This record gives sequence, structure tokens and C-alpha cells, in this order.
Amino acid sequence: MKISVIGCGYLGAVHAACMATLGHDVVGVDVDAGRVAELTAGRAPFYEPGLPDLLAEAGATGRITFTTDVMAAADAAVHFLCVGTPQRADSYAADLTYVDAAFRSLLPHLGPEALVAGKSTVPVGTADRLAAELSGVRPDAALVWNPEFLREGFAVQDTLRPDRLVYGVPDDDARGRAVDLLDEVYATPIAEGTPRLVTDRPTAELVKVAANSFLATKISFINAMAELCEVAGGDVTQLADAIGLDERIGRRFLNAGLGFGGGCLPKDIRAFMARAEELHADPAVGFLREVDSINLRRRERMVDLTVGVLDGRPLAGARIAVLGAAFKPDSDDVRDSPALDVAERLHARSARVVVTDPQAVANARRKAPHLRYADSVEEAVDGVDAVLVLTEWREYRDLDPGKLFGLVAAPRVVDGRNALDADTWRAAGWVYRALGRP
Ligand code: UDX
Repeated sequence: MKISVIGCGYLGAVHAACMATLGHDVVGVDVDAGRVAELTAGRAPFYEPGLPDLLAEAGATGRITFTTDVMAAADAAVHFLCVGTPQRADSYAADLTYVDAAFRSLLPHLGPEALVAGKSTVPVGTADRLAAELSGVRPDAALVWNPEFLREGFAVQDTLRPDRLVYGVPDDDARGRAVDLLDEVYATPIAEGTPRLVTDRPTAELVKVAANSFLATKISFINAMAELCEVAGGDVTQLADAIGLDERIGRRFLNAGLGFGGGCLPKDIRAFMARAEELHADPAVGFLREVDSINLRRRERMVDLTVGVLDGRPLAGARIAVLGAAFKPDSDDVRDSPALDVAERLHARSARVVVTDPQAVANARRKAPHLRYADSVEEAVDGVDAVLVLTEWREYRDLDPGKLFGLVAAPRVVDGRNALDADTWRAAGWVYRALGRP
């Protein structure tokens, strides 16, 4: 099948490459000529394990092309809208400029009985609004919402072997054809047993934000318990293990620490609150305000722990190594990164901060050029008064505290992700502190 992917950012580039891997002929369209050139050369414009291989394979077989010209999408049977929906500068609401622009640029080029499938995370009601616009221009075309649940770092796996497929389809004559076309697109995952749910469009839009809200709530719940552990002398990691063994709760997404960041969870819960307010249903998601503030409080608590570990030495002028800049491991993404935010807070209080990260230094440097960066852990920790582990990369979990001991000015470590083995670090002579633990 010929498929177009409009918007080749994170979601679109992965989706385009995965569609080609499933055997479809794919054209990826993006307004950014630089990104199109990178993708055409088989290079992923961001760090994502497995993506460069897929791009190379698809490029070699000729099943994928990238262009800035939306005309090239004209004869595709299915058009996936994969543009970003960032938080607006002036409010919590989602900025739909890119969705609307991509949709309108596509409209005049749609072929007979084309299917437009939205993938971007949008406020509920967006799909029905676009469908109304579509029916005025191309009554034979149909519009569905088909949300994506991919995690950075696992994006290829999550796209090729998703937990579930959700089709939000129209309730008119176009419904059957829309379902059949999507089934044809996803024939391989469906054949391999992926559950598929067919819903109306608003439900499909809500599924995505509800899932992300639930995940954010789970993280803030355990971080709220961490706050209690801190004042009562408990250990949140043991608490998470114990409650997580209840199958109804589950241990996943109960890792207490610096909290959630990235390009999805923070902006999605805020956009959900803004949309609920527009619909006069804000009390239904009022709890998300609390989820957001618990999450942000962890960052300031991390600063407090750092001050505490310095044991009387003033934070101003103290040398601090920050290990981690990405919002989570296996990613070079620094959007709303808790790690980078803590580094900035320390810098704002005149600490001499040096940041390192296995993948995210270039992006961090662009976002926070006033901070100092190091290319390795050894360089970052050289002569510092405290080491902060703020993103739980495998290489940081596996650090040898004995080896680092000789490099620092004072062996003090603050574990912002409960990622290190406290006993090993203490046995090697370090003062160890962590969020939510005695
Ligand atoms: C998330 C959703 O998981 C995904 O389904 C959706 O499509 C997009 O948003 P992603 O942003 O890639 O994916 O990251 P995720 O792995 O969910 O982590 C989000 C944040 O939560 C990270 O900052 C991570 O460090 C933090 N987190 C996660 C915790 O603090 N504790 C946990 O137990 C789990």
C-alpha cells in the first residue's frame, strides 16, 4: 500500500520507517528541508536505537522517500498526520498550528476515497472538527484518529509490536472502509496477535491522554509516598516493591525519583487540563494539577538534598557534577528534562555545575548554553564536591565508586533516580543520599 506520513519528527520518522519495514511504500513529508536531507541520507535526526538500521534497509529497497513537497503524497491511500502538538507559549493548551497547517496543506492533494489518519496527541474534539472540514472539501474521503503509544528509546519496538491498536473511526458509511484500510496497514501486528479496538473518534483521542495521565499519576503517587518516607524515615524503594507485588497495582512506573519529563507526559497532562476547562469539566481532572506539582516539587527537593550533602559548605561556589541531561536513559531528548532543570537551578544558585550525558550533551548545550559540559564521567567529576546522578543510564548504574573516589574532592553522591546500590557506594567510602530514602 502507498502511505504518506506528514511530519517527520520523532513520531513521524519512526512511523515512516516502520511502515516501510511492514512492506508499504512510504513517502515522508516535512517542511524542514534539513531534516528531509538527513532522513534521505538514511540518518536519524535524533538518537533512537534501531531506527538508523530501519532507515538504511528501507532506503536500500527504495520503499521510502522523504520530501518537502506534499504533492508527492497525492496518490497515497492512507495519510498519517504525525506533526507535533507542543504546549502553547501563553497557556497550558496544546498548540494545534502544526496539525491544522499539515491537514490543510494535504487537503487539495487527496486522491479519491483517501483516508486521513491522525496520530498526533490532540485535545478531544480535534478529529471531529477536522472531519467536518474534510467532508466540505472531499466528501468521499474519511478521517480517523489512530493514536500512538510509543516510548522514546523503544519507539521501533513499540510501533512494530504495539500493546494495542486503537482506531477512532467515523460513525457513518465510511466506517467499514476505514477499518479495512487500517487493518491492511497493520496486517502484520494484527496477525501476530496485537489487540485492536475500534472506537469513535473522541474516545480514541481520549485513550491517548488518559493513558499518559494514568502513567504520570502513578509516578507522582510514588513520589508523594517518597515525600512521606522522607519525613517519616521510610524507604520508598522498599515500599514500591511491596505494593507493586499486588497484581492490581504492579511494580512498573513506580520508580520514585526526580519524576517525569520529556516531550509527552508533562505537556499532555497540561493540555488535558486546558481542554477539560474548555469543556467545563475541569473538576474531573483537577487531580492532574496536583500530579504536576508533586512532580515539580521533586526538583527543588533535589536541590535541598544537594545543599544537605555539602554538610555546611555553601552551595554558591561548590563544584557539582551532574550525571545525566536527557529526560530519561536511552534518549538524547532534553525537552522538559528534570535532570537539566536541576542543573539549571543549581547554576542559578551559583554552584559550579558540570553536566555530562552519554547522548544528550549536544542538545543540552543548545538548550542551556550557559552551563559547563564534559565529555565523560571522569572529566565531569574531577575535583567536585558532590556527584549527582540525575538520569539512570546503564553506564551510571554500573559506575565503580572505588574508581571515582580518587577523582573527586569529596566523596558525596546524591542519587536522583534511586539507581545506585547504596551499600556498594557507602562501602567504598561515599556519603550516599537519595530521594525518598533514609
Ligand atoms: C511516554 C509514554 O510512556 C508513552 O506511552 C507515550 O506514547 C509518550 O509518553 P516517554 O515520554 O518516551 O513515553 O517516556 P517514559 O518511558 O514513559 O518516561 C516518562 C518520564 O517518566 C521519564 O522522565 C522517566 O524518567 C519518568 N519515570 C518513568 C519515572 O520517573 N518513574 C517511573 O517509574 C517511570
